[in-house]
Amino acid sequence: MGMNEPRLSPERNLALELVRTTEAAAMAGARLMGRGDKIGADQAAVDAMRHVLDGVEMNGTVIIGEGEKDEAPMLYNGEVVGNGEPPHCDIAVDPVDGTTLTAEGRAGAIAVIAASEAGSMYNPGSAVYMEKIAVGPTGAGIVDIRLPVQRNITALAKAKRVEVSDITAIVLDRPRHADLIAEIRDAGARIRLISDGDVAGAIACAMPNSGVDILFGVGGTPEGVITAAALKCMGGDLQGRLWPRDDDERAAMVAEGKDPDQILGLDDLIATENCFFAATGITTGDLMKGVSYTPGGITTHSIVMRGTSGTVRIIEAQHQSEKLRKIKPIGYT
Ligand code: FBP
Repeated sequence: MGMNEPRLSPERNLALELVRTTEAAAMAGARLMGRGDKIGADQAAVDAMRHVLDGVEMNGTVIIGEGEKDEAPMLYNGEVVGNGEPPHCDIAVDPVDGTTLTAEGRAGAIAVIAASEAGSMYNPGSAVYMEKIAVGPTGAGIVDIRLPVQRNITALAKAKRVEVSDITAIVLDRPRHADLIAEIRDAGARIRLISDGDVAGAIACAMPNSGVDILFGVGGTPEGVITAAALKCMGGDLQGRLWPRDDDERAAMVAEGKDPDQILGLDDLIATENCFFAATGITTGDLMKGVSYTPGGITTHSIVMRGTSGTVRIIEAQHQSEKLRKIKPIGYT
């Protein structure tokens, strides 16, 4: 938001409007679940989210989108979205986090959006990967990405008043995590390997009774920023460190003014409490249920959060296909 604009007042919860964009993206993406077409699923979700975003009262700039303008016709980085009215805000979108999960009908794909005061969102630039550690409120202030895995797991177990063997770490199943997985096993914790989707995986760590406690490992930098918005709302923690794959990537980061060795905390990634987060399940996973169908209707499950109040809402919505067909030119019904 600009200096002279009113802050998003405590009465307004932008996320309650933004959730319509993730519902639309999820419904559109879910139509292609299991069809083996990850690009098609992503495109359908992008189109649907973009369409609904037009009606949201805000002047949003996409900081994290589908890529550069010439390669992404919609939701490109820098695109202005919303109806153009104040407030000015930064926007991060991932219409499908888990394109392969969706294409293969596997668990844990979500549609997601985050918003924060203009100028407060970390711009990943060319930084593709980030090493992350993420926990819920009990682990905030307890874990430290600089410490060995075992120390973090032991400290988290103590804070949660459980045994180390009760702690479940969630990790992306990638060859780059072989040593990390060995360290978690040596520490004596349980592991939940996921094939994709570390946004939902990290947020699940902050949800009571989700069955997972801490996310470790290297995932996307944009996904890290989006996750930070959610964990800021929930009172959890995420710490990141950029993970250049080679000298060229490191040099590109430095050229963008980034310090590849800096520890990025929640306040570095989202530099305000005035932030919002919404996500809708595409396929059923640890965090929430996916899209399902009834005669004449579609059911979605979403999570909606606001940083200033810390309120987390779970929303189940029934959508009526016939009515939607009349009012929306989107083919997901
Ligand atoms: P997509 O939806 O773009 O396929 O990304 C899914 C994802 O698993 C993210 O959740 C994660 O942060 C990133 O990819 C990990 O990257 P990589 O697959 O290259 O290891």
